[in-house]
Amino acid sequence: MARTDSGVSIRGVSKSFGAVDVLDHISLGIESGEFVVFLGASGSGKSTLLRMIAGLETVSGGEIWIGGRRVDQLAPGQRDVSMVFQSYALYPHMSVRENLAFGLVNVGTPKAEIATRISTAARMLEMDHLLERKPAQLSGGQRQRVAIGRAIVREPKVFLFDEPLSNLDAGLRTRTRLELSQLHERLGATMVFVTHDQVEAMTLATRIVLLNKGKIEQVGTPMDIYARPSSRYVAQFVGSPAMNFLPVGHIERGSKGTIATITGGVKLETAAAFDSLPQDGLALGLRPENLTVSAQGTVRGMVVNVEQMGDRSLVHARLADGTRIIGVDAPVTDARGGDEIAFDADGSKAMFFDETGKGYHAAH
Ligand SMILES: Nc1ncnc2c1ncn2[C@@H]1O[C@H](COP(=O)(O)OP(=O)(O)OP(=O)(O)O)[C@@H](O)[C@H]1O
Ligand SMILES: [Mg+2]
Repeated sequence: MARTDSGVSIRGVSKSFGAVDVLDHISLGIESGEFVVFLGASGSGKSTLLRMIAGLETVSGGEIWIGGRRVDQLAPGQRDVSMVFQSYALYPHMSVRENLAFGLVNVGTPKAEIATRISTAARMLEMDHLLERKPAQLSGGQRQRVAIGRAIVREPKVFLFDEPLSNLDAGLRTRTRLELSQLHERLGATMVFVTHDQVEAMTLATRIVLLNKGKIEQVGTPMDIYARPSSRYVAQFVGSPAMNFLPVGHIERGSKGTIATITGGVKLETAAAFDSLPQDGLALGLRPENLTVSAQGTVRGMVVNVEQMGDRSLVHARLADGTRIIGVDAPVTDARGGDEIAFDADGSKAMFFDETGKGYHAAH
C-alpha cells in the first residue's frame, strides 16, 4: 500500500550519556519506502540512534522528523513507528492473537478492525495456525514472526528493527531475512534495521549507513559500499574474508590509470586516476576474489594455511615483506602450508588508501 510520506529525517542529532558522547551530529535523510540498515561494530551507536527515532531515548541535540512532522519531543506512541527487538518481548500469559491485539486494544481500535488486521498479518506471515498458542509453545523463529506481526498490525509509518534475527539459528536466519525482504516489498513501508552482520546489511538494505564510533562513516547502496568504500575502515568492515591491504612502494602514471609497485617489485596496473593520488604512504586494497592462485601469477608468497569452503578454497599466504594476504583457489586445491604460491592480481579492481584511511577508486 502506498503511503503518502513516511520518510525519516535526522537533523544534526547528538546523544550523550552524562559526560560520554555516543553520537555526534548525525544527519541522514531516509526516503518513504526505503529499507535502510544501520551497520557498525558493537558500541558504534546503532541501537541508540534507532531508539531515538522510536522515542525510547531522548536526543541531546538536533531534530528528528517522520513523515514531515517533527517528533523528537513526542512520546513513542505518538510517532507512528513500531519497533521489533532482538528479545521478542511477547507477553507470556497471552495467546499469539492477544499479543497481536494488545497494542490496538490499548489505543481503542474497533474490534472488527483488529480482527481484520490480525487475519491479514497472520496470512502474510503464515501463522494462522499459531494464533491460539502461547509464546512458550512456539519456536524461536515463530516467536520472532509474532513480534514482526505485532509491528505490522499497528500499520506504522516506519518499522524499526534492532537485530531481530540474532537469536535465530543460521538456516532460520536466512529464511527470515528473505521473508523480511518480501514483506518490505509487499508493504512498501519505510524500514530501518540495525545489525552488526554485514551479510544482513548487504542483502536487505536499499542503503547502508555505516556507523563508526558515533559518526557516519559512509552512506550508500550495498554495492557502492562494497565496490567503492570511502575509507579503509569501511573496506575492512564489509566483505568476508576482509579486503587485503598491500604496502605500495611507489606509483607511476599508466595508460589506463596508475601503475603501483608492490612487494617484490611487482607492478600492478590499476584504474585509479594518477593525479588524484598522494605519492606516499599508500596501501593497495584488493579483495580476496581478485587474487586468484595461478602458476603464472606475479604476486608470490608462502602458504600459511588453506580453508576449503566447498565452493572455493581460501589460501592464506605471507609475502616476502611479511604482509598477510588471502586469495582464492578452486574448491579442491593442492596448496598446503609451507608451499610457495603465486597469485594473479586483478589490478582493475584494486583501490588505494592513504595514511589517513581515505579511499581512492577508479573514475566511474
Ligand atoms: N544508558 C546508557 N548509559 C551510558 N552509556 C550508554 C547507554 N546506552 C548506550 N551507551 C553507550 O553508548 C554507546 C553506543 O551504544 P549502542 O547500544 O547504541 O551500540 P550498538 O552499536 O547498538 O552496539 P551493539 O552492536 O553492541 O548492540 C556504547 O558505548 C554504550 O556503552
Ligand atoms: Mg545495539
